[in-house]
Amino acid sequence: MSISTEAELEGMRRVSEAVGVTLKLMKEYAKVGMSTMELDNYGASILKKYGARSAPFLTYSFPGYTCISVNSEAAHGIPSKTRILREGDLINIDVSAELNGFWSDNGESFVLGEDIHNHQALVDASRDILKKAIYNIKAGTRIADVGHVIQLEAKKRGLRVIKNLAGHGVGRSLHEAPEDILNYRVRSNRERFKNNSTVAIETFISTKSWNVITLKDGWTLVGDRGGYVTQHEHTILVTDTTPVILTEANEIWC
Ligand code: CO
Ligand code: CO
Repeated sequence: MSISTEAELEGMRRVSEAVGVTLKLMKEYAKVGMSTMELDNYGASILKKYGARSAPFLTYSFPGYTCISVNSEAAHGIPSKTRILREGDLINIDVSAELNGFWSDNGESFVLGEDIHNHQALVDASRDILKKAIYNIKAGTRIADVGHVIQLEAKKRGLRVIKNLAGHGVGRSLHEAPEDILNYRVRSNRERFKNNSTVAIETFISTKSWNVITLKDGWTLVGDRGGYVTQHEHTILVTDTTPVILTEANEIWC
């Protein structure tokens, strides 16, 4: 959305704090032996305290309040009481919500406990690339150029990007224009980031796959060539200078 009043900015700050704190507390709460449903219910209780409502539940009737994707799952993992977290799991939690008509979105991949399966380098790459991408954005920056930064940084590290997932505008709904803030450059896309707009920037960094496919459950996304995928996501306010990171309460790079 385009922010034109103080009240709109305040609305976006509040919902962004709700999703940011929820993500941070869920990450701290995740333990070996816990089911992803238990973790999701905990997240739901925090959103509720803020008066915020789960965006995927509201928008897509997603069977959960947050998306929790484990190991080979790339995104949109369904919280389940039979999915038990193990030492060294690669976990992604994505929290998005609505509060007073404003919507915000954020996500983080991390390793649970000791990194016995060596996922940390992929996690660090995703987080660092998101940082680089975000600090490349100001009013007038081409969306395609940010995609190029993400793709180049992944390549430098011997990694790939997922081509059929993307960041997006956010604010008055979960997904709004610009709809495709891709992780690679589409030369024909001449669209630019607009001053005072709120957008969700997200990385999809991958070891083997270039695309994701949907499992038979109708939700869970996995890489089409296997491997692992990490995602980090912030909702930001685009300005003439450095963007304002509205979801900074998630502390994904503090
Ligand atoms: Co998200
Ligand atoms: Co998003």
